[in-house]
Amino acid sequence: MCGIVAYTGSADATPILLKGLKSLEYRGYDSAGVAIQTALGTMEVLKTAGRVEELDALVAESDITGHTGIGHTRWATHGVVNRQNSHPHVSCDGEVALVHNGIVENYLELRTELAADGHTLLSDTDTEAIVHLIEMNMRAGQSLEDALLRAAGRLKGAGTFVVSARNEPGKIVGMRTGNAGGIVVGHIDDGNMMASDLLAVLPYTNKVVYLDSGEQAIITNASVIYRNGDGDVIDKEIIISDRSAESAELGAFPHFMLKEIHEQAERVASAMRGRVDFETGSLNLPEIPFTDEQIRNFDQVVLVGMGTSLHSAMMGATLIESFARIPAKAENASEFRYKNPVLNENTLVISVTQSGETADTLAAMEGAAAQNAKQLAVVEIDGSQATRMADGSLLVRAGLEVAVASTKTMTNTVVCLYMLAIHLASIRGTMSQEARKAAVSDLASLPGGIGSLISQEQTYKAIAERLVTRHHLLYLGRGFMFPAAMEGALKMKEIAYIHAEGYAAGEMKHGVNALISEDMPTIALAPAGPLHEKMVSNLNEVKARGGQVIAIVTEGDEIVPSIVDEVIELPAASEALSAIFSLVPMQLLAYYTAVALKQDPDKPRNLAKTVTVE
Ligand code: AGP
Repeated sequence: MCGIVAYTGSADATPILLKGLKSLEYRGYDSAGVAIQTALGTMEVLKTAGRVEELDALVAESDITGHTGIGHTRWATHGVVNRQNSHPHVSCDGEVALVHNGIVENYLELRTELAADGHTLLSDTDTEAIVHLIEMNMRAGQSLEDALLRAAGRLKGAGTFVVSARNEPGKIVGMRTGNAGGIVVGHIDDGNMMASDLLAVLPYTNKVVYLDSGEQAIITNASVIYRNGDGDVIDKEIIISDRSAESAELGAFPHFMLKEIHEQAERVASAMRGRVDFETGSLNLPEIPFTDEQIRNFDQVVLVGMGTSLHSAMMGATLIESFARIPAKAENASEFRYKNPVLNENTLVISVTQSGETADTLAAMEGAAAQNAKQLAVVEIDGSQATRMADGSLLVRAGLEVAVASTKTMTNTVVCLYMLAIHLASIRGTMSQEARKAAVSDLASLPGGIGSLISQEQTYKAIAERLVTRHHLLYLGRGFMFPAAMEGALKMKEIAYIHAEGYAAGEMKHGVNALISEDMPTIALAPAGPLHEKMVSNLNEVKARGGQVIAIVTEGDEIVPSIVDEVIELPAASEALSAIFSLVPMQLLAYYTAVALKQDPDKPRNLAKTVTVE
């Protein structure tokens, strides 16, 4: 998704913008640009259909400096990738510069209106129409903030906008509409900032404010004013973020993805800290805002999410239905938002989202709110839109996840859903004290077990290097291992670009068997448990048809290793925890396959870390 950075203050804006844009590269982009209000009173725009380092070179060749500027990395939605379509876009007279994240659904109608009004639009983007609407409003005597407010009222679709004007020096206005990606305002000592992502602001301050939909921020060197959608000045609480800039540093790792895989043992412990009492086998989840009566009245639980978060939601549904005995299902948010679901005040809708900004997930939450469902967000980013829409939020505490491919967030999310399921079960009386104590004490094995798996990464690396010639992979699992299989396949797809399918192993006879061949190795999740022997049958079917099998088993398994070609061992654990453990070798398999194929695991092609448009 597009990245936005803006600064105004007494420092030179350009290096701050470039550093900020570099920190947002992980979001995925195809072009970059800046607009600077120079000391000479001009508005200068530099942009390129290339990487931030190419923009850096353009800036270095120019002698452009100034104390106020806006910057952008573009993830193309409307208009091909070229310099003209990259941001910032400027008005006819070059007076107003704008950067944007989102989609203008009625842009063609607006472009027609603007052309009839004498405006010449140079790009084929939806964004450019906005800056000409602002220019038209400023020509009518409106201030920059009023001109943006009025222009935004003409737009259909969600968006975040940051704009500056030559004739209002030192001022930058930001605004958010709908469920578009967020804008975080950084209150810094030497001026003020705005960005689409906390990461760009952290090096300068941890005093931040997140804009809600319809709100504006007007920043100058010495002031920050917030306004609502009616243009009234409002107060906004400054949050002191507990994140640090160094947490966004790569350290000794070659990629953020590997760093974040390695962080899982420690981050899983943080998910449990203060929430799990291993002595008494009890949980403490004060973030859950529902009364015992409300919890006892829940008659269905719907978990919504996308991508990896959907896979976490699938595991969560199985956990909640198994422990709390409430009908529970996981729904793809982009489908759920359009299916007119049957919900009511006794429905618990759980939005599962790392960013808290995924457009489809937020839209699903809006639909749930319209039917008075109770809502809980299981989320990483505090202050994100999902945390402001839900009745309460269970923060997963994975820490800043820079790599596009989600790893530590999923592990922590499933641990949080596991704890939530026990919490619900305890209040509904569907879990004996012994069962609850056993389920809680199982969690103690996670940090050490994950650490021991990570220590075997060279084994997974060797297996990965034998997969690089393959064009298709099949991941099979049953029960908790089915969503794990889906997740293993997604990781391989999104960073190694190898076609991979995650399947419920029981599906084999219903069509998938036709695909078995030497060119499509099977990665089978077959840990100890009630479904183990079913998986043994599946493995025999694959082997009987000449397929290669890499099996992920529980240590000490003496059956599966005699059938398959390669074995990856997990620590002995329950089915649910085995599913969490299985994520680690699959993450590393995908990572080392990508590296062997000379792909960049942190910046997979065509993908963005947060999908703020549908
Ligand atoms: C997974 O590796 C991807 N990063 C992607 O599928 C992601 O999980 C999905 O876009 C949902 O994002 P969210 O958790 O921020 O809502």
